[in-house]
Amino acid sequence: MRFAFWVIGCQMNVADSERLSRVLTEQGHVQVPDTAGADLVVLMSCSVRQTAEDRLWGHLREVAQLKRARSSLVVAASGCVSDGNVEGFLQRAPVVDVYVDPRQPESLLAWLSDRGLADPPDFGDLDLGALVPRQGLDHTAVALHGVSRHVPAIYGCNYRCTYCIVPYTRGPQISRPVDEIRREVSWLVQAEGAREVTVLGQTVDAYGEDLPDQPRLSHLLERLDGIEGLERVRFLTSHPNHMTLDLIDAVRDLPHVCEHINLPFQAGDNDVLRRMARRYRSEDYRALIGTIRERVPDVSLSTDVIVGFPGETAVQFERTLEMLRDIEFDVVHVAMYSPRRGTPAPEVWPDDVPPPEKKRRRRAVEDTQREIALRRNQALVSAVTEVLVEGPSQRRKDQRSTTKRWGGRTRTNKLVFFPHDGNPTGELTPVRITQASPWYLDGVPA
Ligand code: SAM
Ligand code: SF4
Ligand code: F3S
Repeated sequence: MRFAFWVIGCQMNVADSERLSRVLTEQGHVQVPDTAGADLVVLMSCSVRQTAEDRLWGHLREVAQLKRARSSLVVAASGCVSDGNVEGFLQRAPVVDVYVDPRQPESLLAWLSDRGLADPPDFGDLDLGALVPRQGLDHTAVALHGVSRHVPAIYGCNYRCTYCIVPYTRGPQISRPVDEIRREVSWLVQAEGAREVTVLGQTVDAYGEDLPDQPRLSHLLERLDGIEGLERVRFLTSHPNHMTLDLIDAVRDLPHVCEHINLPFQAGDNDVLRRMARRYRSEDYRALIGTIRERVPDVSLSTDVIVGFPGETAVQFERTLEMLRDIEFDVVHVAMYSPRRGTPAPEVWPDDVPPPEKKRRRRAVEDTQREIALRRNQALVSAVTEVLVEGPSQRRKDQRSTTKRWGGRTRTNKLVFFPHDGNPTGELTPVRITQASPWYLDGVPA
């Protein structure tokens, strides 16, 4: 079959779609770039905010039109469906033929074969834990998948932040064993030419707490750090309550582990944090940032914040801005609170911050952060930094120039564009920074 993906949501959905794609390809099916040319469409759904759900339903309507024209089209859904109720979702979206648990992508093959739509799967040569072929390395896949890949380390989440749907869509925390993750990453490097991996979890620093031998994330990073050919290792997303010294020191000491930590604080006010059930106070968070910066002085930090949580007053919101001004993150992801059915918050508190006020707060965060990010990036001008090149850039600075521009990231996860006559994709290239904006840097090969 020819299959295509439509993916929204976080990196977890990207990682799960890559794994599902690998299983289908291994059994002889062929990935095509868009849904119009496919026999099988897989929708990776997200329900973290209403805007994501609206996009999903818009796309479902398009797919329903395709299916009316071509009734043989198979529509599968995976990822996070609204309030975690898969049955309810399938009833409301009759165009979807099957829901695939992202932890068991191979179940889609059994479903297809039960209906005579594909040959019975033969998993003989597939290492089903790591979801990689045991042999027969394919050295042609590099260009297809890019140099940077995402690998789930934990599925689900054991927190119950009162605004968040994820624990209901993804279930409780399940960590994958260290060896399984290592096998998968080794294969991505050897067979698919990956140069960088990001290990994923909603609270990735809680990795291993649910495994019998309780390995720590620092231990997993150490095991990945030694894989030959793997230039960079990242991890995403950390929770302040699990960020321990061994992990901070792993970031400092392991040569391939990058100096970048995403540590959401969500709100600067302690009453809001308590009602969000984040289980830390702003002073704990500030102290943790102090410890991280003391041990890893050149670390870059990003965070997530929510504005307009129920009952958040203008004064309480100011504390979020204060945190941003005091800490000076490199990147801030800001979202307006969106009530999610099935989560505790809307049951207890009305969504009482009016939309224009939520927008004002979001803009205030963006304006504050733009200045900080620009200042932090300007401090890098004239420095030489190592860039892992991801591919060609659409941005051409000088329209008359025929030299192609390339884009990649620093170890600190900053986007850098620079001219180059060859094709440096996948290479670690030293680049001298010549210009800074809040969102990216420009440079020249050093
Ligand atoms: N596990 C991570 C954490 O603890 O921060 C991230 C989880 S979520 C997939 C990604 C981001 O979406 C969150 O950090 C939060 O800022 C945002 N988010 C989650 N639920 C939301 C909601 N109901 N409304 C607005 N933003 C939300
Ligand atoms: Fe959601 Fe909180 Fe879990 Fe993050 S830690 S996924 S915000 S419940
Ligand atoms: Fe969305 Fe699920 Fe990720 S709700 S943000 S796809 S974990």
